[in-house]
Amino acid sequence: MNILLLNGPNLNLLGEREPEVYGATTLAQLEHLVAARAEELGAVVRAFQSNHEGALIDRLHDSRRWAHGCIFNPGAYTHTSYALRDALAAMPQVRCVEVHLSDLSKREAWRQVSVIADVVAKRISGKGVAGYLEALEWLCETPG
Ligand code: DQA
Repeated sequence: MNILLLNGPNLNLLGEREPEVYGATTLAQLEHLVAARAEELGAVVRAFQSNHEGALIDRLHDSRRWAHGCIFNPGAYTHTSYALRDALAAMPQVRCVEVHLSDLSKREAWRQVSVIADVVAKRISGKGVAGYLEALEWLCETPG
């Protein structure tokens, strides 16, 4: 099972960015935790983070024949990016889990809108880093 772990804008600042909202774990630690759990599950993870919408789209395109699943936290692009939505819609063979560290249902109204929600296989919100591990386990354990 090949998994693309994709993080969007501002998530490079995890650990120092609003830790009361997003937690104290850094992006490097998060990526390490996911890779370690993936190894236990016999999966391979490639991780990528970008603050740029086009770079995220390029990485999705480049991974479309390699990845079986994608764990994706698009950050604020969740709420605005029809371009990312269309990229996911163009590669339905790659199952995508949308992950958010914070609980979007308890935050501002604009954060409760996800323009990618209808093209992902599963959504996890408000579980912090554990949400990424849950996404990985779901992808590995749920038949496509
Ligand atoms: C986030 C929630 C988004 O609204 C925000 O813009 C982020 C992080 C989360 O993980 O909770 O950057 O996706």
